[in-house]
Amino acid sequence: MQKSVYIKTYGCQMNVYDSARMADVLAPRGYRQAEAPEDADLIILNTCHIREKAAEKVYSELGRLKRIKRERRAAGKDATIAVAGCVAQAEGAEIRRRAPAVDLVFGPQSYHRLPELLAEARRTGSAIGQAFEADEKFDTLPEESAFQGPSAFLTVQEGCDKFCTFCVVPYTRGAEYSRPAAAILAEARRMVAGGAREIALLGQNVNAYAGAAPGGVRGGAKGGGVWGLGRLIRELADVEGLERIRYTTSHPRDMDDELIAAHAEVPALMPYLHLPVQSGSDRILAAMNRKHTAADYRRTVDRLRAARPDLALSSDFIVGFPGETDQDFAATLKLVTEVGYAQAYSFKYSARPGTPAATADGQVPEAEKAARLAALQQLLEAQQAAFNHACIGRTMPVLLDRAGRKPGQMVGRSPWMQAVHVMAPPDRFGRIADIAIERATANSLAGHLAAAPAAPPRAPVGAGRSEGVRAA
Ligand code: SAH
Ligand code: SF4
Ligand code: F3S
Repeated sequence: MQKSVYIKTYGCQMNVYDSARMADVLAPRGYRQAEAPEDADLIILNTCHIREKAAEKVYSELGRLKRIKRERRAAGKDATIAVAGCVAQAEGAEIRRRAPAVDLVFGPQSYHRLPELLAEARRTGSAIGQAFEADEKFDTLPEESAFQGPSAFLTVQEGCDKFCTFCVVPYTRGAEYSRPAAAILAEARRMVAGGAREIALLGQNVNAYAGAAPGGVRGGAKGGGVWGLGRLIRELADVEGLERIRYTTSHPRDMDDELIAAHAEVPALMPYLHLPVQSGSDRILAAMNRKHTAADYRRTVDRLRAARPDLALSSDFIVGFPGETDQDFAATLKLVTEVGYAQAYSFKYSARPGTPAATADGQVPEAEKAARLAALQQLLEAQQAAFNHACIGRTMPVLLDRAGRKPGQMVGRSPWMQAVHVMAPPDRFGRIADIAIERATANSLAGHLAAAPAAPPRAPVGAGRSEGVRAA
């Protein structure tokens, strides 16, 4: 029987990927995707727990869904409500106590059991699928997956053992687990056969990847040994038709020699890296349990740029971590100025219950956090604008992967992750085209299809070295 599912996704790329896999698991059971919750037999909230009041926001959304459920039931229609993801993992059965309209609660590593949990909910009125029981999870998913577009995500690693003192991820996603390399290579081949040209490897700590080599024992170090991310990327580069490889998110401590060498030696590995540093102050980095100093980070960046001179960098920053002084914050600004970022995300520290920093001394007043965030963002935005403007006049290969807003327009990604707008005929969709860049804004580039083949990718002026982009 035809049924429909509406999945609302919050949080990181891992959740985006998980939502797509939920749809894949449900498709063979007759579920097509609904445009709105009002039209769906099954509503799934795939939640994120990283920000303050995340759980409260989920409860208020559930209040709205309760009304939809009531109206659908009155019209004689099905309406099952499920809460998935990191809030589900953190809150568990509490969700059903506070929001009895919810039929189903399941954590990030049990979505492969969704059909079974749905059946259980139908039988008993509720089902809870939690915890990190599933070492087999990646292997029990259906092989068929929906086309994600020319640029696709592929999860290679889950979970985190780092326990940064501000972060909930180790509690919601559990311990680090790496998928066996053979399963990843097989999935990549299927994606490419289905039309993917670019694959972004995903993991909370993707560069901590340590997966069983093909022929080895699944998930363990026995037998065929273990591959790191650098080795995995080299092997993926041999997949016929795969033109671009990316990976996210990395921890500075796990940037090993083999991975750095891959940046020098694998042309398909794109010259853009999200490498979060969080702070430029060694005192704060130690309090965050990041286990590296600002100088360690600078050295890693220098080695990466020596390997791939046109590498563009992105980062996450937290301002107002407990105990952060004006001097600590100045060290962050100094690091940003020295490194030069093409793009970055920055956040005010927000206490997450259950994490060590939440109860630490020296919580920073809100007004101070806001002022520091504004100063940091001003610097980062200036760097991003300078990076984009340096591209004007250059021709670069762009993977056209979306329709634009205007008729005849397409949008793609440059090697450095910039959105590029261009007028292009429909047969260019899903292909890499050389675009001559004419205009730049703070967030994107625009240009026209270049007639002649482009020169190989090179760094935009002023973006190539760590002493590169400086804010005006
Ligand atoms: N695994 C990634 C990050 C995952 S969370 C890494 O190690 O970098 C994404 C970002 O959210 C973090 O990099 C951090 O900058 C931010 N973040 C996490 N917890 C936070 C908190 N309690 N307050 C403010 N920002 C936080
Ligand atoms: Fe969170 Fe730190 Fe793990 Fe990243 S490395 S997910 S910030 S604990
Ligand atoms: Fe959020 Fe969970 Fe991702 S807390 S950032 S959805 S790992």
